[in-house]
Amino acid sequence: MKTDKEAKALQVIPNHVAVIMDGNGRWAKQRGLVRTEGHREGLEAVKRVTKAANKWGVKVLTLYAFSTENWKRPPQEIKYLMNLPIAFFDKFMPELMENNIKVMTSGTEEGVPGRTIKTVQKVIDQTKDNDGMVLNLAFNYGSREEITRAVRLIGQDILDHKLEPKQVDDKLIASYLYTNPLGQYADVDLMIRTSGEERLSNFLLWQNAYSEFYFSPLYWPDFNEEAFDEILEEYQGRNRRFGGL
Ligand code: FPP
Repeated sequence: MKTDKEAKALQVIPNHVAVIMDGNGRWAKQRGLVRTEGHREGLEAVKRVTKAANKWGVKVLTLYAFSTENWKRPPQEIKYLMNLPIAFFDKFMPELMENNIKVMTSGTEEGVPGRTIKTVQKVIDQTKDNDGMVLNLAFNYGSREEITRAVRLIGQDILDHKLEPKQVDDKLIASYLYTNPLGQYADVDLMIRTSGEERLSNFLLWQNAYSEFYFSPLYWPDFNEEAFDEILEEYQGRNRRFGGL
């Protein structure tokens, strides 16, 4: 629990926080464990950070759980990662409901096993009336795939005379992205990457246009509420100008 003084110190809460949960493999290696043990432990960090973000009144938390490039990994690891949403929602569903959290996903279903799609769809249906924080799972997500898909859909709509080229602007493009259901919160305010790596890895390229970046040295399984709170504290000092003065 935060004291009044601490709670007051955080007056600027980012609406949309996005996280690249990196370092699971290195966390496991450091302990002489197989990589998948790092992913398993990573789920605990997902729970901690979801609760912490919700506590602060963050509106959207987007987590990069599987990228379109992660298919390059060994088949056993891919299989494990594909099952993670099932394991996660199996255990965490009651808490999601208790906390009024609504689940959505960003990404393509292509290649994802049917049972994973089914589980996630069930969770989306069950949480659809929750009106608290949105937990947006970026699963089989890649920004270039998202933008390519949007361009293709826009092109088709032009061919079908539903749209004219002159109507294509910033707002219209955003409406063809996976994040469209997030409305005014689709753009990221705070982007966090763990494990000391400092790159974007094809994550929300459009939506991160004006976000603040924070890189944590912690491996994702070690990331906790305290680390999250510290980042929010630092965010208070960031002067966001959005290109202005
Ligand atoms: C990156 O670490 C992490 C991933 C590719 C998977 C992240 C997934 C989770 C933390 C859990 C998913 C959560 C839900 C709710 C389904 P890495 O494996 O690249 O680590 P390394 O860089 O140390 O090898």
